[in-house]
Parts: sequence; structure tokens; C-alpha cells
Amino acid sequence: MMKLKHLATATFCLMVAFGCSSEKSPIYKDASADIEARVNDLVNRMTLEEKILQLNQYVLGINTVENNFGEMVKDIPVEIGSLIYFNDHAEVRNAMQKKAMEESRLGIPILFGHDVIHGYRTTYPIPLALACSWNPELVRQASEVAAQEAYDCGVNWTFSPMVDVSRDPRWGRVMECFGEDPYTNAVFCEAVVKGYQGDDMSEKNRIAACLKHYVGYGASEAGRDYVPTEISDQTLWDTYLPPFEAGVKAGAATLMSAFHTISGIPASANHYILTEVLKEKWQHDGFVVSDWGAVEQLRYQGMAEDEKEATMLAFNAGIEMDMADRMYQKYLATLLEEGKVDMKLVDESVRRVLRVKFRLGLFEQPYVEEKPESEMYLLPKSLEIAEKAAAESMVLLKNENSVLPLEDVGTIAVIGPVASDSTQHLGNWGARARAEDVVGIVQGMCEEYAGKSKILTAKGCDFEGEDKSGFAEAVRVAKASDVVVVCLGHKGSWSGENQSRSTIEIPKIQEELLSAVEATGKPVVVLVTTGRPVELPRIEKKADAILQTWHSGVRAGKAIAGLLSGRYNPSGKLAMTFPYSTGQIPVYYNRRHRARTGDQGLYKDITSEPMYPFAHGLSYSTFEYGKLTVSADKLKEGETISAEVTVKNASQRDGLETVHWFVKDPYSHITRPVKELKYFEKKLIKAGENVTFRFEINSLRDLGFVNREGKKYLDKGEYRIMVGDQSVSIYVI
Ligand code: BGC
Repeated sequence: MMKLKHLATATFCLMVAFGCSSEKSPIYKDASADIEARVNDLVNRMTLEEKILQLNQYVLGINTVENNFGEMVKDIPVEIGSLIYFNDHAEVRNAMQKKAMEESRLGIPILFGHDVIHGYRTTYPIPLALACSWNPELVRQASEVAAQEAYDCGVNWTFSPMVDVSRDPRWGRVMECFGEDPYTNAVFCEAVVKGYQGDDMSEKNRIAACLKHYVGYGASEAGRDYVPTEISDQTLWDTYLPPFEAGVKAGAATLMSAFHTISGIPASANHYILTEVLKEKWQHDGFVVSDWGAVEQLRYQGMAEDEKEATMLAFNAGIEMDMADRMYQKYLATLLEEGKVDMKLVDESVRRVLRVKFRLGLFEQPYVEEKPESEMYLLPKSLEIAEKAAAESMVLLKNENSVLPLEDVGTIAVIGPVASDSTQHLGNWGARARAEDVVGIVQGMCEEYAGKSKILTAKGCDFEGEDKSGFAEAVRVAKASDVVVVCLGHKGSWSGENQSRSTIEIPKIQEELLSAVEATGKPVVVLVTTGRPVELPRIEKKADAILQTWHSGVRAGKAIAGLLSGRYNPSGKLAMTFPYSTGQIPVYYNRRHRARTGDQGLYKDITSEPMYPFAHGLSYSTFEYGKLTVSADKLKEGETISAEVTVKNASQRDGLETVHWFVKDPYSHITRPVKELKYFEKKLIKAGENVTFRFEINSLRDLGFVNREGKKYLDKGEYRIMVGDQSVSIYVI
């Protein structure tokens, strides 16, 4: 630190000698000047110590996410680049910002970051659930509300969206991503980035996005967190990179490096992905922040011998900002002196951080207005979006004999550990989420059925354990009712970071409760409230209907009750496959072909097919697909043709239908998945009406593939366009 101080003083004297201090209005303070000119002007004025501090992020406040117990930082340097801000109100943040603006030599504003994963205070469904809505516009709106609430509280930057494609529901973090498919993650990534950043990040209520965890964290071995991954260059390019590329194209200001090792090289020391791909190939000009402690952790990963080497590796690989572990602050100056880090890279890194701050308009508006909570959070429009998002995210997996919707029912029993436990609907990674904001299932049902049906309730059992003392009361309540809604699931905290599970079962005690209730002979509707796909074969046998409700946020109970009553017509479809058993994992729709056909290579003890495939989801309406047609069956590179299908709603009930368009390339010089989602669209189809869905097929974009160097190519030959159970061949000539 002493050395830094000397350098700082020397640079400052030089600046005075060159007359900087006598300037009236430096370019960097001129809001009308070009951002690049402002960035360069400011970097040229900074001391080394000031530069290094811009590349560090500390924590302010208390981190309530159990896994990262943050510390209260009392003596934060006023030149700090960024703070993770854990607090409910803007006051502390404004006070800290005031110190930075007034007590630092150059008055550089601090960038306040926070994890806003599925809403800030108005908590929305978890991202995995949101993907099942197939409604990116709705997700954009929800992200816009999240940005407004976060902004009002003083947050300028969120560590989201998380777009780690994942095929292993044992991994706790599947809740944070948009499912198993690269294209789905790419589309929702773009929607979230637009929702946070809008077209101009300097506008009020806009925050900067951070794509994470760059890249391939979802390939986690056996669903264990933080473990190494094996990802070939081919898979990196065709599966894990596409959502990030889409986010970069959508203008995402920042990215976060991941914890894990990719085929031997930790993601946080990976020059290829952080610099060659991101900065050189994709031309991203924002910055990369390390994940929490990811620099220091390079030691545990067997890459760096000590903290200094870890710093050198992470920084030279292309991480501009160091989250939480203060490695950059400790070692960058020494590494510069030793010639192990180049000053040019330090300047370039600082430029990237400052560029984002200028784009956010922080120099012009460093403070936020301190408002009463009633003007910031849970506004009527925000809650409306929350209910709609929850209703559209839930997936009707089974509905035998149309037991649902529950109309004209005398008495409904609502039983199970989730019935009255509203906290669980918040799931994991709630930013400022509060249990008291949630409408739970029993409350939702009572409100929905007020004056129409009687609601009886019993808990029956806890989420886990062996205590069956509540079973008798549950059975009594079931017997006194006409239909039983059994609310099973996982606690919110069972998903998320560091929440790997060796099986994806619902705990045995809950299955036993279901058996006891089912023995009454009453119709049974099962609600499954979880943050990941779960094993349902035993539950399915005892249920007339199953609604996958996920962890769906503050209006979960309202959405559930609305779906059960028929006020909403279910429209969610799975964005992640549900296996029959944990042993089938990984099982996902876009796998590659086997070497043999028939039953060769399939499991001998169970089916190799999943229980509920990707895109499965029922409706109360009956949709009939007309004939799939294409405008031409031959096209050349650079040409576009269209495919169409008309869908009829052959029921008495209006309904939303999502049409998924898949492409299959039967033979290719790089073998491709059995089918790949290339487009989807959700539309309202009124009772009895027809609606036409169209897929504009751009030859290279939709039929082409990417090779292991990231180059898109298009093979000549046959392709199949698939929709529902139909397919049609087209040819690239
Ligand atoms: C997580 C990130 C998160 C960060 C800050 C880390 O442990 O992996 O996803 O953004 O903490 O809270």
C-alpha cells in the first residue's frame, strides 16, 4: 500500500505540473461530450491507486443470501469502483455515493450492484418457470419492473440474467436459468436485457445487466456445484455460448465469469472465452466481473500457487473487476512492477468499467430520489404482471377426465406442507423478497372461491421428516370434501446456489401423505411447487391432475387458484424435461443420435424416454393443428422461406397456445441434435377460432450450424421442419 501511495502522489504532482488542476470543466464532466472522449480524459487523470480501486468491488450492507455472508464494510475507500449493495433503502447508498462524489479527488461515482434474479421486492416466478411461459414480452415487462424497484432502492447493476444451459436437475442452479435449450435461453436472455437496460441505460429506472456465469457452469458434473466440467469446443459453441452471444448482441453491459473449470482451464482464468471470444470476436466493450471470490479460488482449483498468481491469471485472462475477494487491490500494483501485468491492460480495464458508468448516466445522476416504500414496491401494475407471469409459467402436466377446472364444487380440501406456507413461493434468490408480500395457496383459494365453494385445509406433514401425526386430520378434511388439492413440493431454499441434490424426488413423507388422502377415493389434484424438475411417477399414479406450479413469487396463490377455477386457462409448457427417475439424468430433448437403432443402447430396466418431454403442457382448450406447409421446398444460402400451420381452438374456452418450431438436419458433416428449437410463438386463440402461426426460415440462421471455432456454416441437402407431430422436408441447394 505504501508503494501505491508514492505512485499516487507522484502522478498527482505531474498532473498539477501539466495544469490539469487549473482546468474549469474537464471533458469527463461534460455531459454533452462523447463518452469515449470522457472515458479517455478521465483515465488520463487517474493515479494508479485510483485505477486499481475502480477494478474492485466490496460489499455494503448485509448479504442475506445464505451462501455469501457478506461483511459490513465500514471504511470503504471513496475511490472504490463498485459495491454490492445489500439494503432496503436508498439512504445508505446515497450517503456512500456522496462520500465518493465529494471526498474523492476526481468524483467518480460508485456502481452499486445486487442480485436481482426474479424481481426485486415484487418477486416473480423463478427464471426456469418464466421460460415455461414462452412469453418473452411478459418477461421483459417483469424485468422492467425489477429494474424500477432496484433503481429506486439505489441499485444500478444486477447480476442477471443467468443463462447457463443446464440438463441436470440435480444442480440447484437450474432454477436460475431458462431451461435446457440454448435457443430458449438466448431469447429470454435478450428479453431480460431489454427489460433492464431499455434502449438507453441512462434513463431513470434502468439498470445494467450482467450475463452469467460465463460460460458452461450448467455442465456441472452430476449436478454438483463448483465442480469441474468437460466441455468440448464443439459443445461450447453449439450449446453454451449461444445465449451469451445473444445477450452481448442485445447490448448487455457486463458479464460475470464462472467458478468452474472448463476442460482443465478455470472459466475465471480462461483467456480464450474472456478475451478471444468475448472481446475480440464479439467486440464486447463493457466489462467482466469475477464471481464472488472466483479470483482467489483459482488456488483451490489447482491453477494458481498463491493469491498473487491467481490475480495475474484472472486479470490477464480478461476479468476487469474483482468481486469481493480484494485480490486486485492487494496484488495488481506489485504485478505491474514485476512486469507480469501490462499497464495498457490496466488502462483498458479501467476504461471498460468507466464506460459502463458513463452509459448509466451515473456522473450526471449519482444519487437516487429517496421515496417511501409505497411508491417503489409492489405497485398495482407490478403485481398484475406478477400474477400473469405466474399463471402463464405454471404447467398442467396431467388432467384426466378433465377433473380441472374445479367449477361448481361444494367443498375443496387444500392439504399439504405448501398449502399455507407462503414463504416457499419466493423460491431462492429473492432480492428484497418478503414472506408477508406473498399470497399463498390457501389465501388464494379462499379469495377465488369466496361465496362459491367451501375451502377446508390441513397441513398433513412437514416438507421432510417422519412425523405422520397430521395425517389423520388431513384424511378427515379430505373425506369432508368433494375434491382434494394436495400441495407438495420443495422448500425454496432447496434450489439455488450450493443446493445440489442426489435425487430429485419429493420427500417420502409427502408421497405417503398423498397415498393416505388418495385412499379416501376423492378426486385428487396435485400441485407440485419446486425449483427444479422432479420425479413424478409415483405421484402421477395417485393424481387425477398435476399442476407444476414452480416457485412462482408473490402472486403464486392467486395464479394457482385462478388456474384451478378456470379464470385462467393453463398455457405453460416445460422448458426442461421431467425424467421418470434420477437415474435417467441427463435426459433432454436435443441430444445427438445414437450409433444403433431400435432398443439397442436403451435402458433395460426402465424406459429411456422422459416422463414429460420438453414443451409438454396441457390446456383446458383443445387445439387442432392443420397441415404444416412451406412456401417453397428449395432454397439457397442467403434465402428465406416460410412455414405455416393453422391451429384451431376446438373448445368452448379461449386459450393461449405456443407453437414450437423445430429443425432437424438428418445428415451433416458435424452431427447435430435429433431436433433443435429454432422459433416459438404464443398466441391467443379464441374459442372456435383459427389462428395461423408462421416461421420465417432464414437459411443460415435457422438451418445452419456452428463449428468448433464458432463459425456458422450451412450444409447443402435435406432439412426437416417440425411442428407438433408433423414434419416437412426442405432442401438447401
Ligand atoms: C453467485 C453469483 C452471484 C454472486 C453475488 C455468487 O456466489 O455465484 O451468481 O451473483 O454470488 O451474490
